[in-house]
Amino acid sequence: MSLSGKRILLIIGGGIAAYKALDLIRRLRERGASVRVVMTAAAREFVTTLSVGALSADHVFTELFDRHDEHDVGHIRLSREADLLVVAPATADLMAKLANGHANDLASTVLLATDKRVLMAPAMNPKMWSHPATRRNRATLEKDGIAFIGPARGEMAESNEAGEGRMAEPLEIVAAVEAMLDQRPKPLAGKRIIVTSGPTHEPIDPVRYIANRSSGKQGHAIAAALAKLGADVRLVSGPVTIADPAGVTTTHVETAAQMKDAVESLLPADAAVFVAAVADWRTASAAGEKIKKVAGEGPPALQMVENPDILAGVGHHSLRPGLVVGFAAETQDLIGNAEAKLRKKGADFIVANDVSHESGIGPTGVMGGDRNRVRIVSKAGVEEWPEMGKDEVAERLAALIATRLRTVVV
Ligand code: C5P
Repeated sequence: MSLSGKRILLIIGGGIAAYKALDLIRRLRERGASVRVVMTAAAREFVTTLSVGALSADHVFTELFDRHDEHDVGHIRLSREADLLVVAPATADLMAKLANGHANDLASTVLLATDKRVLMAPAMNPKMWSHPATRRNRATLEKDGIAFIGPARGEMAESNEAGEGRMAEPLEIVAAVEAMLDQRPKPLAGKRIIVTSGPTHEPIDPVRYIANRSSGKQGHAIAAALAKLGADVRLVSGPVTIADPAGVTTTHVETAAQMKDAVESLLPADAAVFVAAVADWRTASAAGEKIKKVAGEGPPALQMVENPDILAGVGHHSLRPGLVVGFAAETQDLIGNAEAKLRKKGADFIVANDVSHESGIGPTGVMGGDRNRVRIVSKAGVEEWPEMGKDEVAERLAALIATRLRTVVV
């Protein structure tokens, strides 16, 4: 979507992720938006007003009591002459200020004075993010109508810690901005749709697990595309490093058993889309302690049991949604296998993709990469889609789901 003519007021908070705000300005302007920037004092410790001003091609606002700025624009105009306010990085401090109505600098005053929607992209140390105070503030802000994008899990720049707290990538923030400013009709308004995404991790012992290479990109893109069409999307995600999609309610799980419970607790729903690469097996019982390597004893004989098939469970459930969509990643007999899955799992259609040889695994392949070539297999036959970006596959699939839901008798 083009952001042509849209005015974004970007508030940059003080955190190492402020460097990503520079790229965000570029990405927003590339799409036609004009970007006006407010920087907190702490933000200016990380990036300079010179770089920000050069990229935004505008004056950078920093002080509440700047006689010239207040005379010229003023904090009220600043907060109103925008279509959307974006806070990136949104620090714990900025969140706390807005949640409690503080207005002691330009950024917090503008946030309190605005009559426009606000999108926050939090970034902070994982301990700060999971602190009860921050969680409380987030809940308050959400209740007040503030939208959030991220944070994602990952390595922290400033320490060796890993965890939830890394700011969403600039392009993810741009997508959230586009979604919030999108005024196209919402054919899925009022429809609840469950989406599963990502891999599952099945523990072997407290430190080891069985996993697969699913990145969650396709499932998350589908959740975002459905939300753009107005659906109330409930995403159940296995462990991934990408951010929660904007406008979607996400539940995080680790194992297939947890994913199944989460999905079933979300029924009834109008549709369910099963994109997750659920591990087929788990160990019969995960060891309570780390399994030690003992010289001469050889490797442990892991006993595996089958995981529940979440899609098949929902496909045959008494609360089965009106539309059930499955995925099939195959290395051989793509269509034959997809047709068999359609029947066995009780799906209305299967999105089949070929993960053999060149199309397969890794940064350029289907699993992990950004592109996908799929076939839609249903009782009506097979529809081939050309290779396209995962976002485009998601948009086309969301449009197809919207069409189908209009004709499905629930
Ligand atoms: O049988 P297979 O794993 O190839 O089926 C893939 C489809 O079934 C996907 O839609 C996947 O999300 C779903 N599935 C599931 N639970 C499982 C295995 C697969 O929901 N345990």
